[in-house]
Amino acid sequence: MKNSSFFVKSYGCQMNLYDSKKIVSILQSRGFKQNTRPEDADLVIFNTCNIRDKAAHKLYSDIGRVNKTKRDKTIAVVGCVAQAENSEMFNKNSSIDIVLGPQSYHLLPQMLLDLEKNPKQINTEFIVNEKFDYLSAQNKPQGISSFVTIQEGCDKFCSFCVVPFTRGPEYSRPIKSILQEVESLTINGAKEIVLLGQNVNAYEDLSSSKKSNIADLIQTISENEKVERIRYTTSHPINMSDELIKLHSTNEKLMPFLHLPVQSGSSRILKKMNRKYDKDFYRRIINKLKFVNPNIEISSDFIVGYPGETDRDFYETIDLIEELKFTQSFSFIFSPRPGTKSATQNDKTPLSIKKERLLILQQKLKDIQFNFNKEFIGKKLKVLVENQSSSNPAYYFGRSPFMQAVYIKASNIKAGELVNANISSCNHKNLYASC
Ligand code: SAM
Ligand code: SF4
Ligand code: F3S
Repeated sequence: MKNSSFFVKSYGCQMNLYDSKKIVSILQSRGFKQNTRPEDADLVIFNTCNIRDKAAHKLYSDIGRVNKTKRDKTIAVVGCVAQAENSEMFNKNSSIDIVLGPQSYHLLPQMLLDLEKNPKQINTEFIVNEKFDYLSAQNKPQGISSFVTIQEGCDKFCSFCVVPFTRGPEYSRPIKSILQEVESLTINGAKEIVLLGQNVNAYEDLSSSKKSNIADLIQTISENEKVERIRYTTSHPINMSDELIKLHSTNEKLMPFLHLPVQSGSSRILKKMNRKYDKDFYRRIINKLKFVNPNIEISSDFIVGYPGETDRDFYETIDLIEELKFTQSFSFIFSPRPGTKSATQNDKTPLSIKKERLLILQQKLKDIQFNFNKEFIGKKLKVLVENQSSSNPAYYFGRSPFMQAVYIKASNIKAGELVNANISSCNHKNLYASC
């Protein structure tokens, strides 16, 4: 298939986006050309997400659409749906040629060659260390803000979640290869490093006797002069060590913004979810963070309509949102996922009530976010400029320390600069500024 063209579509989380970039690098290094339209590509890759029912269903309708123009295309389904559904995928849709789990992307070129011998190729083994060894060599420039996966997998088994089944057990990448990747990204212009992991703060380097944790890693990365900003996501509350919390007061490159999903404000529901903490534990973490750094802002993920959630449980979540003032968040209606513990739990709440709860919760989050954004009107904010708008070159896009999207009207700035932006207006999503 040398010199063929390929198209990649990514669903789901930032780690999938990161993996897709690595897949692009692998294929380009083998002479493949990337295409922006699936109908023009010889190889169509779907990098899939299995977190909610909707994401998984979307895949099959997308395959159907490509199929209409299939002729002699190769269709590869990779990622978390591939891992979860395995060889069953070939039965569900006979046009699929390759099924490849998230830990084995490095095997894709060989599988493409092997298609000649066997028209259905599958690999869903967890060989995560091999993947990272291979992918480390595939560093390509990403941008001003660049992701680096430092940890994969999950041992927590929240009762609603597929990730421990699709991404396997927790695995931390050796610190040396992470630092090499950071170095290569910064040489290519990266100014912000976003450390990624399903439980990023559970990071523990076991490759040397020092056993570095995420706080050690952030400290070391911050000593790289080319790095201006560091973020990490997604963290689990039980892995927020005092050392990591303290770093938010001592390390200026570590941004004062933390995505720390609470899921629910009801300790009763948190127990059913097997989250391993209660509301007070979560509150204490936030209070400790605000104590060491009063500027810190937080965001969260919320699940509404978990089986057995009463109105009272729901309003405990609303109260927690009002109390802690999350400035950005994601919220979802509970989706029963095959193989997880909660998929078989009795769920009497009608969907209409769940939808109503989601609307109330999202409105509350929106109001808080809007009020937070309004506080900056007439003030200056340090913004890392990421790019110039392609539709209107008079505008630049960047992010504030608190992850707010900022659109700056200016003629004398460029991507990669840290600028002092004068905030003039906002809505709940964006800030508008001049420079
Ligand atoms: N590891 C992160 C944590 O523990 O907070 C979360 C990672 S998960 C990829 C992203 C989010 O998807 C979760 O925080 C949760 O809110 C949501 N999620 C996971 N499973 C879900 C389900 N079955 N139904 C609805 N939302 C779900
Ligand atoms: Fe899923 Fe829970 Fe693991 Fe997060 S900690 S990835 S929600 S099982
Ligand atoms: Fe989805 Fe897998 Fe990420 S299930 S959210 S793509 S880890």
